[in-house]
Amino acid sequence: MASLRKIGTAFALASVFPVTLALEVCTEIQRAVSSASAVYYPGSRNYTADNAHWVASSIQSSACTVEPATAADVSTIIKLLGKTKTPFAVKGGGHATNPGWSSTSGVQIAMTRFNTVNYDKKSGTIAIGSGMIWDDVYAELEPHGVIAAGGRVPGVGVAGFTLGGGYNWLSNKVGLTVDTVLGYQLVKPNGDIVSVTATSNSDLFFALKGGYNNFGIVTQFTFKAFAVGQVWGGLLTYGAAQAAAFNAAFASFAVNTTDPNAAIVSGFALDASGKPIVANIMFYNGPSPPAGVFDKFLAIKNISSDISTRSFHSLVEAAPQDLPTGTRGYFDTLSFFEYTPPIINAILNETTFWGARLGAFNASVGYHLEPFLKTLYTHNTTATAFPFLRSQRFVPLQLQFTWNSPKYDTIMREFMEQSAAHLTNVANQNGQPIQELPLYPNYALFSSPAERIYGSNLPRLKAIKAQVDPQNVMGLAQGWKV
Ligand SMILES: Cc1cc2nc3c(=O)[nH]c(=O)nc-3n(C[C@H](O)[C@H](O)[C@H](O)COP(=O)(O)OP(=O)(O)OC[C@H]3O[C@@H](n4cnc5c(N)ncnc54)[C@H](O)[C@@H]3O)c2cc1C
Ligand SMILES: *[C@@H]1O[C@H](CO)[C@@H](O)[C@H](O)[C@H]1NC(C)=O
Ligand SMILES: *[C@@H]1O[C@H](CO)[C@@H](O)[C@H](O)[C@H]1NC(C)=O
Ligand SMILES: *[C@@H]1O[C@H](CO)[C@@H](O)[C@H](O)[C@H]1NC(C)=O
Ligand SMILES: *[C@@H]1O[C@H](CO)[C@@H](O)[C@H](O)[C@H]1NC(C)=O
Ligand SMILES: *[C@@H]1O[C@H](CO)[C@@H](O)[C@H](O)[C@H]1NC(C)=O
Ligand SMILES: *[C@@H]1O[C@H](CO)[C@@H](O)[C@H](O)[C@H]1NC(C)=O
Repeated sequence: MASLRKIGTAFALASVFPVTLALEVCTEIQRAVSSASAVYYPGSRNYTADNAHWVASSIQSSACTVEPATAADVSTIIKLLGKTKTPFAVKGGGHATNPGWSSTSGVQIAMTRFNTVNYDKKSGTIAIGSGMIWDDVYAELEPHGVIAAGGRVPGVGVAGFTLGGGYNWLSNKVGLTVDTVLGYQLVKPNGDIVSVTATSNSDLFFALKGGYNNFGIVTQFTFKAFAVGQVWGGLLTYGAAQAAAFNAAFASFAVNTTDPNAAIVSGFALDASGKPIVANIMFYNGPSPPAGVFDKFLAIKNISSDISTRSFHSLVEAAPQDLPTGTRGYFDTLSFFEYTPPIINAILNETTFWGARLGAFNASVGYHLEPFLKTLYTHNTTATAFPFLRSQRFVPLQLQFTWNSPKYDTIMREFMEQSAAHLTNVANQNGQPIQELPLYPNYALFSSPAERIYGSNLPRLKAIKAQVDPQNVMGLAQGWKV
């Protein structure tokens, strides 16, 4: 309820703010920014691209869009928006599934011109503009034999991913993506342009590591570089007849694998005939996995296989995530202590139960299981906004419901909440009291309370917020609010 109120308020905020005023602000921005930046209006290709999102339910028609090209212009823009209290949004890769979190009826800021990738061999760092998407980053870095530890599938933005946490293919070795960020260039809500590092500003350094868009607009991230050569893996799919064998192989991998170079993401969905289908993306950080690591998966009869020794970039491209135009969708999440057989079976049952139920709505389900090693959260070198719990390993499940008609938006949210509540009960019945585990901000449905995301870190985040953004300028943009 809390967040429904929150969403209600935000939409009300936007709807009471007259478009004519927003358009005046657009004109003011256009006058004030340098010639490197530009403002676009409905009808132009840039306007449409700037408002575009992975799911249609995250798209809004903004009064105008602005593509800043310099931090100084971002500063000018945020000061104008703050002064006029104009609702706005900031978009990196546009993959947020919570509606309105990177879209607005006010001023849409698209970071697309922050598109540089600079690898510094000497310091072992990679500076990346906040308008980049991860697969383009990997393509640019490939000749250097390094990566930043980022997105696992195509299309995901560097900015939102990194501001929320970042489960990545190297997580078993290096932790979350936030654990690999060495610095931020930040435009603060008052327009100041600052470099945020562990030593220059330890509060903001903590806050930006999972604290989302509460503290300003990031123009550039500096990541630790990791040497990565040829890797092994890709996408392997299985049919309903192999589901039991798959579940056994998955449980064994989730519980017993200790190799930090191995990782999987496994998705359950229904095929066109309404039967379960499993899509298993496997990754090994090396040209071939040692015997034993993936053998159980490889022994199961597959429907399709795209497994090979390949470049990291090619592995990321192996599982295309594009949706048909107009597809609406939300994510939600649960955290488990461990993926055990009863929990895996319950997730498969949810897939068939809700998949069948959703047929009447021409809608689809996906449940993505993401196992990680017990040491997942031990790789931090500072405290971070997410996760607030590091002494206990927990593993995320991502729920994905997609549909076509806006009239189903509410019922789909309710169905997702019912499914999450049922799985929480199943976990409890199986000795996993998961209801106080952190929820991952980049997957959690907007109706999740901020307490579940930031937990014991909330007081510190609130204090930093009060200091950095006393006028709550970032409150004009939606997202998790501290
Ligand atoms: C197909 C798909 C695959 C995914 N795979 C993974 C995965 O492997 N691991 C994982 O951890 N997550 C994954 N995610 C979740 C992903 O991390 C989030 O959707 C993330 O928010 C996307 O970032 P973005 O820049 O594309 O999103 P956007 O929608 O552009 O932004 C998300 C949020 O960040 C804010 N923001 C964007 N840019 C800035 C900026 N420069 N300064 C301040 N705030 C900003 C926005 O205002 C918004 O609130 C996946 C999502 C999808 C749809
Ligand atoms: C926006 O316009 C510029 C200049 O015309 C162009 O180079 C750029 O590719 C466009 N961006 C998008 C996202 O369409
Ligand atoms: C993990 O390994 C132990 C010891 O070999 C075995 O008893 C157990 O069944 C395995 N767990 C799973 C889920 O396969
Ligand atoms: C997938 O199935 C095909 C056909 O049975 C088989 O040749 C191939 O080796 C399998 N791939 C993997 C990676 O197991
Ligand atoms: C399958 O899921 C549905 C919906 O959550 C639930 O009502 C039912 O009890 C589950 N069945 C089994 C066998 O777990
Ligand atoms: C059902 O969904 C598919 C895939 O998203 C879409 O192409 C189709 O138009 C939809 N049909 C109806 C009747 O909405
Ligand atoms: C890692 O995070 C935990 C929990 O916030 C914190 O207690 C610990 O000090 C951090 N580790 C380092 C090396 O800073």
